[in-house]
Amino acid sequence: MNKDNLHILVTGGTGYIGSHVVVELLDQGHTVEIVDNLINSQIEVLDKIEQITNQRPVFHEVDLLDSSALNQVFDHSHFDLVIHFAGLKAVAESIEQPLKYYDNNITGALNLLQSMQSHDVKQLIFSSSATVYGDQGIEQCVETLPTGIKLTNPYGKTKYMIEEILKDLCVADPEFNIIALRYFNPVGNHVSGLLGENPNGIPNNLMPYIMKVAAGELPELHIFGNDYETPDGTCLRDYIHVVDLARGHLAAIRGLKPGFTAYNLGTGRPTSVLEMVTAFEQVSGQPLSHSFAPRRPGDLPKLYADPSKAERDLNWHAELTIEDAIRDILTFINHK
Ligand code: NAD
Ligand code: WQD
Repeated sequence: MNKDNLHILVTGGTGYIGSHVVVELLDQGHTVEIVDNLINSQIEVLDKIEQITNQRPVFHEVDLLDSSALNQVFDHSHFDLVIHFAGLKAVAESIEQPLKYYDNNITGALNLLQSMQSHDVKQLIFSSSATVYGDQGIEQCVETLPTGIKLTNPYGKTKYMIEEILKDLCVADPEFNIIALRYFNPVGNHVSGLLGENPNGIPNNLMPYIMKVAAGELPELHIFGNDYETPDGTCLRDYIHVVDLARGHLAAIRGLKPGFTAYNLGTGRPTSVLEMVTAFEQVSGQPLSHSFAPRRPGDLPKLYADPSKAERDLNWHAELTIEDAIRDILTFINHK
């Protein structure tokens, strides 16, 4: 496969990570079509993508659960490869509504794989998550670790289960080339401030919550736990700039090979919640109201990537810092 000008289907392409990947794909000269049902994104994202790239991807408002509508998208165009972001991702909601998560994420993936196979499209990059490593008491995760150990929520289980489905598919049909990218904690946004993460209501994740406090929409950040066995007592995570993450997908396209392969996409550098708060205050020049609250059930004290396999095989590593991410977030907040 010539990898220079590919026709790529991006599911979930109007979402937070998908939209950043679409920008990078268009900038590299690929042709992009998006499938999204807009359950967690806005159609206006297409205007922002066009403002940044001067190109407007073809958009299909299609739910992956609607297999006949999905098949029509494949009937209409021949894709060289698919990047699959579409899915629900709220951990707490997945505990309350497991069937919704299993249906959307697993059935959605199965429908996509069936459409791909029947249309002879056999290159796939899948958005997986560091959550597949579960709780094995290991802080720096490497791809040789087992997955699926002590997973604490249905959302995480869907990522694990889809990886298992993809492995089985590659055994049964050796023409498939599949990469699962295990994201750590994506943060930040495009340098223009035109794209970004803007959840409705009260966010669950750290950076969207910090953004709402900085924008004056929430009074203060509650830091969940300051008595962990970490240098400052708060949890350590691997925050990766979403543009670095997006570029990891470009590297994965070049690295596709027969069978199933998983790569961590992280920086390899742990950052504590308090360090993130301090960095935000330094870059913004403003204090960020915060207080300590009890631990959040299910949180691991330390989780960060060993990203050396992606460096070795894909020639990719993260280049941007959390300060870059915070600077870009401040631009995004000012654009809103
Ligand atoms: P997002 O919610 O912003 O984007 C997901 C997109 O998928 C949304 O635009 C949504 O409308 C769409 N979608 C959901 N279900 C659909 C369906 N049935 N049919 C069609 N479209 C559907 O989320 P994101 O942060 O951009 O995440 C993208 C992917 O990366 C997800 O699979 C997520 O699980 C995974 N991931 C995200 C993170 C993170 O912290 N953001 C970390 C690890 C993995
Ligand atoms: C980060 C740190 C919190 C909010 C989750 C999913 C994971 C993946 C990424 C998709 C933790 C602390 C947070 C707040 C806080 N998603 N925190 N106050 O939990 O590492 O991972 O998102 O695959 O599956 O579980 O990310 O951003 O929620 O939390 O103190 O208001 O910030 O305790 O230490 P997490 P997060």
